[in-house]
Amino acid sequence: MFKRQVTITVNGEARAVELEPRVLLAHLLREGLGLTGTHIGCDTTSCGACTVLVDGSAVKSCTMLAVQADGHEVRTVEGLTRASELHPVQEGFQEEHGLQCGFCTPGMMMSALALLERNPEPTEEEVRWALSGNLCRCTGYQNIVKAVLWAAAKLRPAGTGGVR
Ligand code: FES
Ligand code: FES
Repeated sequence: MFKRQVTITVNGEARAVELEPRVLLAHLLREGLGLTGTHIGCDTTSCGACTVLVDGSAVKSCTMLAVQADGHEVRTVEGLTRASELHPVQEGFQEEHGLQCGFCTPGMMMSALALLERNPEPTEEEVRWALSGNLCRCTGYQNIVKAVLWAAAKLRPAGTGGVR
């Protein structure tokens, strides 16, 4: 069976793997690298549970071949936590009760992170637009949007709206 060698930087660490070209990035992350925080809810680009960042952009990893990530930087929800501290996006979901079953949460967080890295001061409408590719079957979105706005406030430097 034909295999290809790829090197992908995953959460800051270069990972060299050999895989069949047909393998999806979501499957490489979960089954090849054990990063099961990236969820698979549909496999058809509909739900967003598999969202990761590729070179800073939110990507549905069930829609991308792993070989396409060769030489690129991938961030997953596991990379959010710094040392033992929650990332402000994670804190926001905790503070604003932005989850129930948690299945959609990793994808929601990664879409939120992509938004906040390019737009640190989003409006509620911009948050809703950024999350429009992520489906939640539980919470009804209101608290998820509040969680992202909470994180935006926490991430802003003091004196520009700052931590509330
Ligand atoms: S599993 Fe990728 S969009 Fe649903
Ligand atoms: S919290 Fe259950 S699917 Fe979103």
